[in-house]
Amino acid sequence: MNLVVIGAQWGDEGKGKIVDFLAERADVIVRYSGGANAGHTIVHGGLTYKLHLVPSGIIYPDRKVVMGIGMVIDPEALFRELGELSGQGVDWKGRVFIADRAHLVLPRYREIDIETEKKRRRPIGTTGRGIGVAYAMKSARDGIRIADLYDEEAFAAYLPEDREYLLPYREKLKEMVVDMPVFMHRHQGQVILFEGAQGTLLDLDLGTYPFVSSGMSCAAGATTGSGIGPRKIDKILGVFKAYSTRVGNGPFPSEFRKDLDSDLEETIRSVGREYGVTTGRPRRCGYLDLVALRYACLVNSIDGLVLTHLDVYDGMDNIKVCTAYEIDGKQTPDFPAAIDRLTRARPVTQTFKGWKTPLGGISFFDDLPTAAKEYVAFIEQFTQTPVDIVSVGYERKQTIVRKSPWTRS
Ligand code: GDP
Ligand code: IMO
Ligand code: MG
Repeated sequence: MNLVVIGAQWGDEGKGKIVDFLAERADVIVRYSGGANAGHTIVHGGLTYKLHLVPSGIIYPDRKVVMGIGMVIDPEALFRELGELSGQGVDWKGRVFIADRAHLVLPRYREIDIETEKKRRRPIGTTGRGIGVAYAMKSARDGIRIADLYDEEAFAAYLPEDREYLLPYREKLKEMVVDMPVFMHRHQGQVILFEGAQGTLLDLDLGTYPFVSSGMSCAAGATTGSGIGPRKIDKILGVFKAYSTRVGNGPFPSEFRKDLDSDLEETIRSVGREYGVTTGRPRRCGYLDLVALRYACLVNSIDGLVLTHLDVYDGMDNIKVCTAYEIDGKQTPDFPAAIDRLTRARPVTQTFKGWKTPLGGISFFDDLPTAAKEYVAFIEQFTQTPVDIVSVGYERKQTIVRKSPWTRS
């Protein structure tokens, strides 16, 4: 079975937690896009693991993990991360693989990324990890792939400083490198979990361009990003938070506003620990944006939703959701492409009663307070998509499964 898990908002939805939870049943976990701009957190057994490049299945012993074709790999960041995993007692040797078609991120890409940001009239707020530069080099056909490290003629043509930098990685990476379509074919019939990075609204084509990342973080990215065809995908799960967050710049129609929402942003940021895993930046917070979520369901053909961070609303009297945008005095139910329209969009909201009770210890959906169930039901009705899993805390076990993700939809 091939199960894809993507972010349905602006990233940081809790994909890492959910992929780790689902990895119990998977044989292989594949990351298919992005690079060390991602930060995926797993909390288990009293330890917190912060992953940037390595797929979130790594914490389970014996699972194979693959960094796919659609990724851009910073070798320095990769070996730093692997070192940290070893330090945390994770034995990764022999089960971490990298697609030979994946592209490399060189140190100067990071510098160019930071310099370009300084010159932008409208800075994106990138992570400074050289991601956009690597994807631009790839598109311009000037990038360096993992496979090219072992092509003597190609290698000899690189800049001397690049050759010097890359030389030690030829050996260090060698044992991990795979021909990914062959690997995927060989593992056909096994349970394969595809881990998205970033989120739909940060996808290069479908997101809030130019305030996006540069990879294919949508569900379709799982196919080219791993070397399988679209017909092979059995199911797509979209992860979203009970509210919204965004790191970096760009439109965010349902963002909390000091004048209207008082200290709500600070409260949610502190209860939900909303600080970036990669850069430590405070995340911008807002109401759940159902216009954006419905858009994500449509453009990804999401079969089932995974609602995370429901517990962060435990103390709230009321909960608002955004159900439409008002732009220049007119209401629209659709998510516009034009950034100026999105920037002018004001959220039309609907208010729900809070549940004022801690959810963190609840294991069954039926045991959730009625107000929480009503919130979930409204989301399902609005998006026309079932909520199959609900997460009520950051620990692996704080996960409520309503419908098995392992049944084909
Ligand atoms: P990802 O990028 O989608 O993997 O998400 P991040 O790891 O960047 O950010 C999600 C944060 O929320 C992490 O600190 C997780 O430990 C935490 N988290 C995940 N699910 C839940 C949840 O249901 N409740 C709470 N309170 N925290 C969660
Ligand atoms: P995960 O996988 C949240 C954002 C950056 C910036 C924009 C472009 O943890 O959900 P980039 O460095 O990629 O060129 O930055 O994208 N961004 C993310 N925001 N979660 C992520 O990943 C992100 N990866 C990139 O903050 O606004
Ligand atoms: Mg993250």
